[in-house]
Amino acid sequence: MSEPRSTGTVQPSLEAGVDEILIEEDALQRRIGELGAQITEDYRGRDLLLVCVLKGAVFFLSDLMRRIDLPVEVDFMAISSYGAGVDSSGVVRILKDLDVPIEDRNVLIVEDIVDSGLTLSYLLRALESRGPASLEVCALLTKPERRENEVECRYIGFEIPNRFVIGYGLDFAERYRNLPYIGVVREELIAEA
Ligand code: IMP
Ligand code: MG
Repeated sequence: MSEPRSTGTVQPSLEAGVDEILIEEDALQRRIGELGAQITEDYRGRDLLLVCVLKGAVFFLSDLMRRIDLPVEVDFMAISSYGAGVDSSGVVRILKDLDVPIEDRNVLIVEDIVDSGLTLSYLLRALESRGPASLEVCALLTKPERRENEVECRYIGFEIPNRFVIGYGLDFAERYRNLPYIGVVREELIAEA
């Protein structure tokens, strides 16, 4: 059996898509710890269902829920508002719905990033109509400059500038999700797409 060890660095072939690192791994984890502590305090004594929006939020969900000291449940939803590129198509579709009803439950949506706000405002309307006891949002990242639909986010990890980011679950054309940090995608990649 081999000893567990850290690999330390990311493969250069993967890093070739990154222009600059925006949020380092340890800064991500520190902030997620703070969010988890805040959520623990806010939901103590209440039932809590985390709704993770696939696929981008899975890394965030998995780290966040381990920092919440409550018996939380989790369910997944997949929605699509984008093609392969970087701009919202304006059309939101549910690709995978929740497995459980959310009536009378305290629901916290876990999202990777709020950009135009289109996806989230659609999702909030769809879930609100199912009669949850409460419905809030926890987003790792937000790009306030890009907002078209105002959405109320109770918890936010980081505000970032208007740049297309990859890593820690976030993709560019389905790639780069496995970077351990948040980076800015190289301009040339966007231009080529
Ligand atoms: P919105 O509907 O414009 O708010 O877009 C939300 C979704 O677009 C997010 O859940 C992401 O999947 C995707 N998205 C927006 N900005 C970025 C980015 O900078 N990098 C990767 N994905 C993004
Ligand atoms: Mg996405």
